Amino acid sequence: MAYFERVAVVGAGTMGNGIAQTFAQHGSQVTLIDIDAKSLEKGLANIRASLDKFASKGTITKDDADAAFGRVFGKGTLAEAQHCQLVVEAVVEREDVKAKVFGELDRVTDASCILATNTSSISITKIAATTKRPGNVIGMHFMNPVPLMKLVEVIRGQETSDATTKTVVECSSALGKTPVEANDYPGFVSNRVLMPMINEAVYCLMEGVSTREGIDTVMKLGMNHPMGPLALADLIGLDVCLDILNVLHDGLGDPKYRPCPLLKRMVAAGRLGRKSKKGFYDY
Ligand code: CAA
Repeated sequence: MAYFERVAVVGAGTMGNGIAQTFAQHGSQVTLIDIDAKSLEKGLANIRASLDKFASKGTITKDDADAAFGRVFGKGTLAEAQHCQLVVEAVVEREDVKAKVFGELDRVTDASCILATNTSSISITKIAATTKRPGNVIGMHFMNPVPLMKLVEVIRGQETSDATTKTVVECSSALGKTPVEANDYPGFVSNRVLMPMINEAVYCLMEGVSTREGIDTVMKLGMNHPMGPLALADLIGLDVCLDILNVLHDGLGDPKYRPCPLLKRMVAAGRLGRKSKKGFYDY
């Protein structure tokens, strides 16, 4: 049985469609909301492809894949979230956009509904302050690719209640993930530790310490990481990495988070990683 019967996910991009798929695979009816019809269509196609991949590998049956896909309903407006018990927001990483989304979700959903954000670095406390229910607002930070990655970083804002935290921790476990609680400081745990490593790898490349393959191989074979930091930056998106480093630099005020000039230059050139087919590697 699903932990929550009705869940909405806002934003059908890479993270949003992965989150929607994960809830649907665990029995929830999922309303996947995106104002952009093309993004919604692409998000649904990604879910179908990922479920088919699992079915072809025998991880799940074809019937389970079909049933999970049948529980995802694509919609175009936030009003469609009205009867949900949990909403997970996964829209673009911009404070103004998130504030608008949360303001509207606060109006359209029941007062008891939990409003979670998948933000990778924006303050949960600030997002919560745009609603009249800061106790019900929390960070639910999934990792990419969501259907495969086991972690949910559960971030408590200043006003997040114990009850909301307990519910989201239990819900994450029911999704087959391992929840880890963190407090609301820039980058939480995941990106405060990950981004300085990626940034340092870019400095190594810029200074000619080694080639991209050399740097990635050192971290893969020397430290047993599944991917090298430059390949991982391409997976995450170089623009996203730069945004998070700026949040760390501004929020913690320590020069050790200064984004590498090469990373800035690549973003300026539109080399954003896998999504633009060019990053540190070509795709
Ligand atoms: N759905 C279903 N199957 C998927 C999938 C998806 N969404 N994504 C990948 N797969 C499949 C692949 O198709 C592949 O299948 P085959 O074995 O049949 O080819 C299988 O999973 C394994 O993938 P790969 O062979 O490509 O390579 P892999 O064994 O290295 O696994 C990986 C891929 C799980 C991504 C692994 O490389 C890994 O764990 N990388 C690190 C990922 C990571 O660190 N993510 C966190 C990023 S940070 C973040 O998300 C948060 C933030 O705020 C920035």
